[in-house]
This record gives sequence, structure tokens and C-alpha cells, in this order.
Amino acid sequence: MASKITAPKILAKKHSGERIVCLTAYDFTSAAIADESGVDLILVGDSLGNVILGYDTTVPVTLDDMIHHTKAARRGVNNALLVADLPFGSYNSSTSQAVDSAVALMKAGAEAVKLEGDYPEAIEALVKAGIPTMGHVGFTPQSVNKFGGFKVQGKADSGQIVNDAAKRLSDAGAFSVVLELIPAELAKQITNNIHAATIGIGAGIHCDGEIQVFHDIMGFAPKVYKHTRHYAKGGELFRGAVSEYSQDVRDGKFPTEENSF
Ligand code: KIV
Repeated sequence: MASKITAPKILAKKHSGERIVCLTAYDFTSAAIADESGVDLILVGDSLGNVILGYDTTVPVTLDDMIHHTKAARRGVNNALLVADLPFGSYNSSTSQAVDSAVALMKAGAEAVKLEGDYPEAIEALVKAGIPTMGHVGFTPQSVNKFGGFKVQGKADSGQIVNDAAKRLSDAGAFSVVLELIPAELAKQITNNIHAATIGIGAGIHCDGEIQVFHDIMGFAPKVYKHTRHYAKGGELFRGAVSEYSQDVRDGKFPTEENSF
């Protein structure tokens, strides 16, 4: 069995040039699949608002939602680093609010937390409290209303804003920073400029690692977004299995003697 991954080990991978594999998971089964497959970092992302709870955005996700799913994922993870997202509104008011919310996620089984946006003071307070923290810059989905949609950030002159924010988060003690939907060249510059490990999603090939949403790589959505790749035809496979099961029940082909006691 591989040795347990910790936040310092994730950072060390950057500095030894080892690529970092990250994936979201929101429940026992998907977390166990990711962990058993050797993923380094499993994120209980607030993207559960989209793929599990069916919201259009992550804005409605609550701290209680995150605690519930963190507890479930925890039971499936032995080796990977388990990180939980601080949801919108659970860290934005003050550093003490950030610490209180993060403590609740750590007590639910997280080993680190992630927050979106330019909040270096919160990161400093969390690290001081003993909580390894990831930042997240570029397109930050909790701010979709501010951005006016799901749009690539950091193009042309605004690249400096993203670069500076990533540097502030790293200097504040973040062990890692997610770079979402930014030009690949900007992600390369940030990766070279900051101490923290950069984890890309829609940020090109030069980040220290990559994160994807479990449901995206499994192909549950019919559309293949530019930033992702389907590694399975999950939607087709599951719909086919449910149709076959339904037909068998209707035709009296399941259950059979074999399934009876
Ligand atoms: O919530 C999430 O899944 C995320 C990743 C996509 C980085 O924040």
C-alpha cells in the first residue's frame, strides 16, 4: 500500500517535479474508487451543488451540505489527502468565520480545506489554526454572478490580477492553489512564480497537477466541455443498465430462482 498522502507531501511533489493527480468525490463509493485508483488528492468540492444536488450554480450549497458529504467521502478514503470546500458565505465575512467553518469540516473528516478568491488573511488564520489550506483563483464558480457567467479569466491585462492573487495566497501559507479557466501561458507563469503547488482545471498543461470533477470524467453529462475528457461513457452505461433491469422486471426475467431464498 502506498504511504498516506499529506498536505506537505502534495507540496513536496511540486518541488520534486512529480505531477499531482486530483479528483472530486462526494460520497463513500466514488471516494473509495478514487482512493483505490491511486488519486493523490480527493476534493469534496462544492460542485456537489451541481452534480449531486442539481443546482445551476454552487451558490446555494451550505456548510451543512459540505459536512454531510465530507463525512460520507471520509469513510471511503485511506490514502489520498481528503480536502473539503468551504462553501459560499462560510468564510467571506471574517477570518474567525473562516476558521469556525473550516474546523467544522475538519471535524467531519477533512484533512485540509479549500476556499475561493483573494482571501490571504483567511488562509493565514486557517494555517495558524493548524488547517492546511488550498486557494482557488481564476474562474471561481461561487462568484459566477459577479463574472456574469462561466467565462475564462485572466486574459490579456487581467492576467496580472490573477497572478498577484495566487502569489498572495501562496505567501499566506496555502500549500496549493487551484487555477481554473485561465490561459495556459498565465498558468505557466503562476506555476513558476509561486511556492504553492498549482492544480489546474481548464488551465493548460503547465500546472503542477490537474483536478477534474468525477462526474465529468465519467461521462455522465452528454456534453464534453473543452476543459474535460470523458474516460467512460457513464451516462450511456447507466441508462442502458437501468433500461435492461426495467425490461427484465417487466418481462418477469428478474428476479429468478437464482435470486430467491
Ligand atoms: O468544487 C469543485 O469541484 C472545485 C474543483 C473543480 C476545483 O472547486
